Amino acid sequence: MSEHILVTGGAGFIGTHLCGALLKRGAQVTAVDNLAAGKLPALEELQAHDQFTFIEHDITLPLDWTTPVTAVMHLASPIGPAWVRDHPVRTLQAGSAGTVNALEIARRHTARIVLASSAEVYGDPAVQPQPETYWGNVDPTGPMSGYQEAKRFLEAMATAYRHEHGVNTGIVRPFNVYGPGMLATDRRVVAAFVVAALAGEELVVHGPHAVRSLCYVDDFVAGLIAMMDSDAPGPINLGAADGTPIGDLAQLVVSTVGSGTVTIVEGRESGGTARCPDITLARNALGWEPTTDLKQGLKATVEGMRAMVEIQATVHFDVPTAWQALIPDTSTLRCPAASVGAALNWLTTTYPVLAPRLVNKDGQLVSWTNVYLGESNVRELEGLNTALTGDVTLTILPAMAGG
Ligand SMILES: NC(=O)c1ccc[n+]([C@@H]2O[C@H](COP(=O)([O-])OP(=O)(O)OC[C@H]3O[C@@H](n4cnc5c(N)ncnc54)[C@H](O)[C@@H]3O)[C@@H](O)[C@H]2O)c1
Repeated sequence: MSEHILVTGGAGFIGTHLCGALLKRGAQVTAVDNLAAGKLPALEELQAHDQFTFIEHDITLPLDWTTPVTAVMHLASPIGPAWVRDHPVRTLQAGSAGTVNALEIARRHTARIVLASSAEVYGDPAVQPQPETYWGNVDPTGPMSGYQEAKRFLEAMATAYRHEHGVNTGIVRPFNVYGPGMLATDRRVVAAFVVAALAGEELVVHGPHAVRSLCYVDDFVAGLIAMMDSDAPGPINLGAADGTPIGDLAQLVVSTVGSGTVTIVEGRESGGTARCPDITLARNALGWEPTTDLKQGLKATVEGMRAMVEIQATVHFDVPTAWQALIPDTSTLRCPAASVGAALNWLTTTYPVLAPRLVNKDGQLVSWTNVYLGESNVRELEGLNTALTGDVTLTILPAMAGG
C-alpha cells in the first residue's frame, strides 16, 4: 500500500511543517484539525497540493474514517500557557477523548501511531537535564495541570493500547520548538520576542540566565518522521540538548530583526520552568539530534514571521462602552492576526471576561464571538477563520442577555 498518513492537528504550526515534509517524500496526507488555533497561511499552500486533504473536525469526537492509513501522527491539542489556563477542560478533553479517537483509527487500520506528548510531563523538574526515566514533579491541581495531566494521560493511554490492543504506538516528548509559521499571537518565548522586536518594542527579560531548550522546527519534524519510521515505543525526548540563556536569546532576536531593545531585570525568572532534555535515547534509538544552529534558525523564523506580520491585518477592536471599564487604557485594541479566529483568540485570552460572540452581516450568530465586521476588505465571512487583509475594524457588540 502506498503511504497515507493522517495528521491530527495538521493545520497547526508543527502540523503544517510535518504535512509539507510528508508530501515531499511522496506520501498522501490527510490533516484533521478543528482550526481552534486559527488558520495559518501554510494551510492554504498545502491545500494546493493534490496529495493533500483537509478535514475540519474536532478530534474529541469520533472520526468516521474508513480509508486505509499507514500512520497516524497525533498532534491535536491546545497549547500555550494562557490558553491552557483559561480552557483546562477543553485541553483535558483533547488529551483524553481526542487521544482515544486517534488511537482507535490506528487500531482499526493496524497503523503506526506517533503521539506528541510534551516536556510538560516533567512539571517542575528536580533533575537537569531530564532523561525519559525521570518521572517528573507535577502538581495535578496546579495552574498548568490541564495540559500536564492531558499529556500524562495521553502517554498512559498510548501505553495501554500497545499492551491491550497491540497497537504500534510511539510517544515523543517535544521540548520548545520554534520556526517560521508560528502565529504572531503565540505567547511562547521565541514568537513573543520576535513580534516585539519586529514592532521595535522593548523585550523585557526577567532572569536572563534561565535557559530554554530551543529546537528548530525542521529538525523536530525530522525527529517525528524518524519516530514514525521506527517501531520504538518511547517515550523519547525530542529537543535541543544545549540550553540557551534567555538574555542571549533576546539579544540575538534583536540583532537578527534589526530593531527592538532588551531590558534585563535581574532576580525573578519570567514564566515557565527551565527544562532541558537528555537526548541520548533519541540519538541511539532514532539516530536523531538537532543540527540547525540557533542563529540560522532564528534568521529563518524572523523572515517567516516578518512576512506573516506584513500580510496580517491590523485589527482594531471597537469596544462597547459597557466593556470599556473592563479593558485598561483604550477603547480600541490593536492586534496583528492572520485571521479573525486568531484575532479573536487573542482578544478572548487577553480579556476572557468579555466572552464576545461573532455574528455575520445579517446579524446571525456564527460562532462564540459577537462582532460586527465593519470593513468590506474582509474577504468573506465564513466563520472564525476568515482571512483578513489590510486594516480591519471589528466592532464588538455587547454580549447578549444570558451570554
Ligand atoms: N510547539 C512546541 O514547542 C511544543 C512543545 C511541546 C509539545 N508540543 C505538542 O506538539 C503538538 C503540536 O503543537 P504546535 O506547536 O503545532 O501547536 P499548534 O497550536 O500550532 O497546533 C495544534 C493544532 O491542534 C488543533 N487542535 C486543538 N484542539 C483540537 C481538537 N480538539 N480537534 C482537532 N484539532 C485540534 C489546533 O487547531 C492546532 O491547529 C501539540 O500536541 C503540542 O502539545 C508542542
